[in-house]
This record gives sequence, C-alpha cells and structure tokens, in this order.
Amino acid sequence: MSDHKNAKNTGGTTHGEAGESQTQSQSMWGGRFGAGPSAVMQEINASIGFDKRLYGEDIAGSTAHADMLAATGIISQQDRDAIHEGLTQVKAEIEAGDFTFDPALEDIHMHIEARLREIVGDAGARLHTARSRNDQVATDFRLWCRGAVDRFDGLYADFISALLDVADAHAGTIMPGFTHLQTAQPVTLGHHIMAYAEMAFRDRARLADCRKRLNESPLGAAALAGTGFPIDRHQTAEALGFDAPMANSLDAVSSRDFALELMAALSIAATHLSRLADEIVLWATPAFGFLTLSDEFSTGSSIMPQKRNPDAAELVRAKVGRIAGAMSGLMMVMKGLPLAYSKDMQEDKEPVFKAVDDFELCLVAMTGMMMDFHPNPTAMRAAAGQGFSTATDLADWLVRELKMPFRDAHHVTGAVVKLAEGEGCDLAELSLEQMQAVEPRISQAVFDVLSVEASVASRTSFGGTAPENVRAQIRAARQKLTDEQKLTAREKPAK
Ligand code: ARG
Repeated sequence: MSDHKNAKNTGGTTHGEAGESQTQSQSMWGGRFGAGPSAVMQEINASIGFDKRLYGEDIAGSTAHADMLAATGIISQQDRDAIHEGLTQVKAEIEAGDFTFDPALEDIHMHIEARLREIVGDAGARLHTARSRNDQVATDFRLWCRGAVDRFDGLYADFISALLDVADAHAGTIMPGFTHLQTAQPVTLGHHIMAYAEMAFRDRARLADCRKRLNESPLGAAALAGTGFPIDRHQTAEALGFDAPMANSLDAVSSRDFALELMAALSIAATHLSRLADEIVLWATPAFGFLTLSDEFSTGSSIMPQKRNPDAAELVRAKVGRIAGAMSGLMMVMKGLPLAYSKDMQEDKEPVFKAVDDFELCLVAMTGMMMDFHPNPTAMRAAAGQGFSTATDLADWLVRELKMPFRDAHHVTGAVVKLAEGEGCDLAELSLEQMQAVEPRISQAVFDVLSVEASVASRTSFGGTAPENVRAQIRAARQKLTDEQKLTAREKPAK
C-alpha cells in the first residue's frame, strides 16, 4: 500500500520509483498536465495489476490494427514491419518474465505501447493513430472472453463424456428417486446422472449462444465517435476472428453486456455443478452410503482419523456464490452509466477473470469426480425399496387392472401403505389376504409390480427411467456430443 497521508500532487516524485515511468505515462496523455498524478490517484487508477492478463489479446489487436493502418496507407509499410517486430519482442519479454510492470503506466495498453516505443521509436508512436484505449480495451476483453468460452466448450465435452460413462455403467442400477428429499419412486442412477448431462448440454449451448453476440469487433470505434482516418474496420474484425465490426461506435466502446451474459451463463452453469456437488456430499455421508469418495477428491480430518471429507464437492457447491456474486457486482458497476466510456468500466475485468477462473476449476474438478465415481449399488438398491417407493405402481395397477379412477386408486393405496406401516414391513411383504382386506379385488398378479425392479422397468414413457430408455438416451447424447464437436470445429475461426 502506498502512504496515503503523503498522497499529494507533487509532480510524481512521492511514490517510490514511479518518477521516470510517470513521465512516460504523462507523455501519452500529459500534454496539458503540469504535474504528475498523486500517489493515491495512481493507486486508484492503475489496472495493470490485473489487466496484464490481456497482453496476448492486446498484442493481437495492435498487430491487426497496424496491418490495417498500413493496408489503408495511414502508416507506411516500414512502420508496420517495425511495429510487428517490436510487438513480437514485447510479447517474448512478457512471456519470459523479462518485462517491467509499473503502476505509473496504468494499464496493459500503455505498458505495451511504451515498451514498443522504446524498442522501435517513432513507428511505435504511430500505432495509436485512429484508435483509443476505449476501443482497444473493449476489443481485448471481447477476445479474452471468447477465449474463455472456447476453452469451456472443450472442457464441457470432457465433462459430458464423463457423465455419459457413469450413466452407461449404471443404466440399470436402481436408486431411490426423491421429491422433497423424501423417497418418491425408484429410478436408475444412469437416469439421475443423465439429468445432469442434459443440464450440461444446455449450459454449453448457452455459452455458444453468448459467443455469437460477443464476437463482434469494437476496434476502430476509437474513443467513441469513430475516426476521420480512412480505416477498414472489416479488415481488423476479420483478422481477429470476429464475425463483423460492431455497428455503432458508442455501443462498441461502452457496452459490457457480453461480459454480463458470459457471467450469467456461468452462474447458471455453476448452479448445476453445485447441485451435483451437493448430491455427492449427501450420498457420501455414511448415513446414505451411496458413494465412496475418491481418494483424489477427498481429504482426511486432522482430528478424527475415521473421516473422509468431500472437500472438493463442497467447494464446487460453494463457488457458485462467488461466480453469481461477480455477475451482480458487474451489473452494479454498469447500472446507470451514461454513454459512452467511463472509467467505471475498468472495474469489469476483475470479476470476470475471477468468475472464469473459479468456474474453470469447478468444471475440471467435477469432471475429475465423475471420472473417479464409486457408487454403492447395494446401498442404493436397499434405500430404493424403503419408504413404500412403489406405492404409485400399486395405484397404477388398480387403475389398469381394476379400471379404478386414479383418485380412488390413490385412496386405496394409501390404506395399503398405512397397513404396511403398521406391520413394519414393505408393500411387497404384505400377504395377499392383508391387501384383500383393503380391496377384495386385488389379485396375486399385483406382486409383479411391487418390486423396485418392476417399477423401474415399467417407466418406458419418453424421458422415463426404464433402463432401456436410459440406454437410448445415452446413445442419443453421445451422438449429439459428436455432432456438436464437428460443428464447433467447423465454426471455429482460424487462429
Ligand atoms: N484501463 C482502461 C480500462 O480498462 C483502459 C481504457 C482507458 N480509457 C480511458 N479513456 N481512460 O477501462
């Protein structure tokens, strides 16, 4: 932290070694400034601490811009070549850790430009023609977000395929299905896991959809109004893999809905991961005993030697709070901002970087947990039989075989359940006589539907839990995944 008490405007000399580069930073915009910024001004203003992550995108944007400036005759070919060479060197220096970052130079854009000017002189000073940091940062940030979306696309393919493998292995494994977390009807584990695969497909599609809107180029909007130079925005847009230049220069520099949309998509996706994570936590408690946690994704307790804790799952369950928090944080930053650019928008990057990092970790961790998933089918089968989970099957039998209206069947079944409860046994363990005491027309054939196996096998309606359905659903999902892979490969712009 700087010493705030001394934060006076003293011409850039109070704040450590900032003096020299402050002069550099002033030389970018300091024509009419008599003195350098105060230390606290520098501290509140600088974004280099976090926006250095944009160096690759910034250099790509500058390279495309320089190419276009030369192609349109705004700068010479020699200047363009010098800029290229200089930017290549700057990139190498940053990647080798040989680059000096200095808060006095505010942000990544000024750092790269200042170093470029040191390396190539005047040519470097021509790069900023017909451009502003406003369109520059919007371009960099869109490119960065697009990179994240593309990474997630690949990670989702891994996650979904891990889910499909678990579902495949357990298409016939019976477990209790819950409503209100009370045993409701038996389902298969494969079916349960496929529910998450469906969510994952939609989450992936939401990201792909968000990509469509974010993939337009702000570059060339300049500060806010466009420029009088004969630039070619289509050329830079194409060079950077954007679908088109953004149509309105004010919108181009001042909209951040692409980032909000990305975070909204990630918040929803993280909610799904969080629900799956919670089920892992729940299922792994000895009281449930449905799962053995993998060694790789659990920890021991420092005091209780018997414990195995689902830390990874708990953290995935929790991280959605940070991700959705980042989204609402940025919403608050953007709310009420007049057009066009305001420095408020510099506050867009940290929440997005954080949300993307958090989400990436969650997705990879959850994929790992799915690849190392050890269910306990015996415990699941036993639990599926508890809580009169086939009561609906009994009611359905009464409707089908005795032509009873469903409401009456529901009532009769309720009486049978009450009887079993009193006897302390399951429905299938009641004798025929006991059932006939409730409804004399019940026959021996009823026992065919009272087992959990029969119940599950009978649910063959589209989207239902019958193992044969689940297997068909998995086959369709595998096909969809392959089709989507082909599509993304074709749609992806050449780098
Ligand atoms: N660091 C700034 C940001 O992230 C770059 C744009 C600055 N533009 C300006 N006119 N001050 O928003």
